[in-house]
Amino acid sequence: MAAVELIEIEKAFGATSVVKKLSLTVREGELVALLGPSGCGKTTTLRMIAGLERPDRGVVKLGGQLVDDGRAFVAPERRGLGMVFQSYAIWPHKSVFENVAYPLQLKGASNVEAAVKEALGWVRLEAYLHRRPHELSGGQLQRVALARALVGQPKVLLLDEPLSNLDVALREELRGEIASLRAKLGTTMILVTHDQAEALALADQVAVMNKGVIEQLAAPDVVYREPATPFVAGFVGGANVLVGEVQGTSFISEGVSFALPAGTVAPPGPHTLVVRSEDVVLGAEGPLLPLQARLFMGSATEYRLGLGDSVVRAVGSALSHARPGQLTPVSFRSVRLYAP
Ligand SMILES: Nc1ncnc2c1ncn2[C@@H]1O[C@H](COP(=O)(O)OP(=O)(O)OP(=O)(O)O)[C@@H](O)[C@H]1O
Ligand SMILES: [Mg+2]
Repeated sequence: MAAVELIEIEKAFGATSVVKKLSLTVREGELVALLGPSGCGKTTTLRMIAGLERPDRGVVKLGGQLVDDGRAFVAPERRGLGMVFQSYAIWPHKSVFENVAYPLQLKGASNVEAAVKEALGWVRLEAYLHRRPHELSGGQLQRVALARALVGQPKVLLLDEPLSNLDVALREELRGEIASLRAKLGTTMILVTHDQAEALALADQVAVMNKGVIEQLAAPDVVYREPATPFVAGFVGGANVLVGEVQGTSFISEGVSFALPAGTVAPPGPHTLVVRSEDVVLGAEGPLLPLQARLFMGSATEYRLGLGDSVVRAVGSALSHARPGQLTPVSFRSVRLYAP
């Protein structure tokens, strides 16, 4: 059964339409990531699932039960959800124990102490029961927020950029922790993020959002390898997106003609060409583009080449002789073409 079902939900603030006829089904136990740039409507969508925002049109169902259709409305606290926000939203004057116990006390639950200790065990904070928030690190605070969201054993956990306030090392550690919590508890999760690595690493399905619509909903490897639109290719894979025209076996962009890789089939006319930076070959053949910058990234080096007003990025092993300003032959190993 679907844990969460959104049917053509819409939301506008004033004259600005923020979520447009968005439909999404999240199966029980699944982790779906809502991935997209700032302002694309991720948080608004999550808030409509939580009941913190009402859709203008459309239907929200949880566990098969209608919770909002514009008339019927189930209040947020009665939806069986847990929520974690980017800002930890931990009460500064309560101890770790009191923070995590709070939602249970609100519900008048019994056995609060045992439940809180168990939830703190899930996030490896058993030893921090009596600490105050100012005595905790950012990662520990975010774990308290996770424990507080999970203590009531919600059917669905909503996570809004839970890791983006943390430094890189902590973010990766907590990413692993969310994955193992999921394996342990089996909780359905919806994770909002603008970090493609986070979405690809954690999700069963990634919903790539752009301007209030889902442009693609698919497994991470499918989104990465077979992006449905140029936007998805550019946003998720960091691919180069070039606007231009197919002429015979060439692609013309910014007045520069690139040979299409053998086997590429496309009718002549305007297209958007998508090429991953690892599929851009430097120094072999093709038109000469000026090298603008070279960025050493450890396992690889990124090269940026000027193409009119835009930039072509190539990632590969180091070209020892490459200097900024140097004209470098550029060709494409494999591309995807999208008709307008
Ligand atoms: N209460 C509100 N009143 C007016 N406009 C709003 C309100 N909430 C959100 N918006 C606008 O709606 C759009 C979508 O906002 P939303 O917070 O859903 O984006 P987001 O994808 O979560 O972005 P971010 O990654 O920056 O958090 C933005 O343009 C935002 O300014
Ligand atoms: Mg947001």
